[in-house]
Amino acid sequence: MEHQLILVIDFGGQYNQLIARRVRECSVYCEVISCRTPIEKIRELSPMGIIFTGGPNSVYLETSPTISPEIFDLGVPVLGICYGAQLMAHLLGGDVHAADNREYGMTKTYYDTSSVLFSHADGIGSEDISWMSHTDFIAGVPDGFRVTAHTDTCPTAAMENADRKLFAVQFHPEVNHTVHGTDMIRAFVRDICGCAGDWTMKNYAASAVKQVREKVGDGKVLLGLSGGVDSSVAAALLARAVGDKLTCIFVDHGFMRKNEGDEVEQAFDGWGINFVRVNAKDRFLSKLAGVTEPEQKRKLIGEEFIRVFEAEAKKIGRVDYLVQGTIYPDVIESGLGDSAVIKSHHNVGGLPDYVDFKEIIEPLRLLFKDEVRALGRELGLSDVLVDRQPFPGPGLAIRIIGEITEEKLDILRDADLIFREEIAKADLDHTPDQYFAVLTSMRSVGVMGDGRTYDYTLALRAVTTSDFMTADFAKLPYDLLQRVSSRIVNEVKSINRIVYDVTTKPPATVEWE
Ligand code: XMP
Repeated sequence: MEHQLILVIDFGGQYNQLIARRVRECSVYCEVISCRTPIEKIRELSPMGIIFTGGPNSVYLETSPTISPEIFDLGVPVLGICYGAQLMAHLLGGDVHAADNREYGMTKTYYDTSSVLFSHADGIGSEDISWMSHTDFIAGVPDGFRVTAHTDTCPTAAMENADRKLFAVQFHPEVNHTVHGTDMIRAFVRDICGCAGDWTMKNYAASAVKQVREKVGDGKVLLGLSGGVDSSVAAALLARAVGDKLTCIFVDHGFMRKNEGDEVEQAFDGWGINFVRVNAKDRFLSKLAGVTEPEQKRKLIGEEFIRVFEAEAKKIGRVDYLVQGTIYPDVIESGLGDSAVIKSHHNVGGLPDYVDFKEIIEPLRLLFKDEVRALGRELGLSDVLVDRQPFPGPGLAIRIIGEITEEKLDILRDADLIFREEIAKADLDHTPDQYFAVLTSMRSVGVMGDGRTYDYTLALRAVTTSDFMTADFAKLPYDLLQRVSSRIVNEVKSINRIVYDVTTKPPATVEWE
């Protein structure tokens, strides 16, 4: 895959992925690499430009991450952000000091709009808001540099040496709160580095299909399809590339949402692949009979899933390639070692190690989630599949509190569908990042017609979040909640009370189990 490349060099900043996403949003391909990557390797990669991320350290400490100053002599434009800006100043002979107070949050910033960087950033005014998060600051810029922005407390909010194409910003242009931040990144990668904008999912689809086809040749490929976005898009890509050399195994554990299993199956109808749907509902239900403890549920489902998958894989015999839906954030989080490791959920779609195969293919390894969705659309997958919100591997089994029965699954499926339908009707389906119904094990007294009822309480959960590590409850309109509530108690049997979950994560989690 030949694309112009921007390298994002990671110094341990919490926003490293965000920087990479912003660059990709400018239709420019970038990769995040460790600051320990040797300079020879960086030169070999022939980047069009280099961005230094922020980081939690102080550049003047011996132990802090650094980089060879030769990087400034490659003739490639460099943009330093926060720690990256300070490091540039430090390595080139400027002064970096600790301030008495931290400058944090949205900060009024005075820009020199005639500077090279800011004159290319569309719409930026001489006074705009930037997002700051630093204690150290650049007290003196290196020779050849000039200050191009400042704030009331920070003398160097930005600096540049236009002749050497070196730029630095103390604030975080990648964070949405920086007004015109993405325009600054665009100015850097498109105007200053001269990237043409050749990174599109149309181009990616074409080259990835070609590459996979060449690699697979006459081999056999196996893919575990969970129905989630990543595995579905990976399946679509492989289907386009190798057709009937691909076998997808879709284990339907019976804990999918209403119609979901059929939707997944239909999505792959007519793609000319071998599609195996294993309806294992009874198997899973009997394994879980009487089980009420959440961790035990998860463990049993995970084990059973692998057992079913393995039995099906055995029928196919030896396969050459196993496809995994790894995406770029997984690669960044597990591979670089410069940022804090973020907990990842055990996914029930995870495959057993003992399926006999030669090699793993990870066709989405370079893509962010929004790119995976765009690729899915490019490959012709329906919006239903591509826009799917995250769904936990154990499915509805962890949204029924206590014991799972077929009857409860039916109740929850119907109620959950109504909630989703009403959110879609209100045109809010992209507002909460995840929303679903939970069937509690609590019954309470109600009145319907002239009679007493004693039925289940259903909880509605809707959250907004950027990373699912923390989340806020979505402030859904009351009239929407009222419609959902009234439809559910009227249309779904055995529910007579609806509550809305108004806890954040932490202290709660997104799911109830
Ligand atoms: P929690 O409940 O931990 O959920 O706040 C955070 C996000 O992860 C999803 N989730 C899972 N995803 N396997 C998955 O693939 C799991 O076992 C699992 N448990 C929770 C949850 O839906 C939310 O998006």
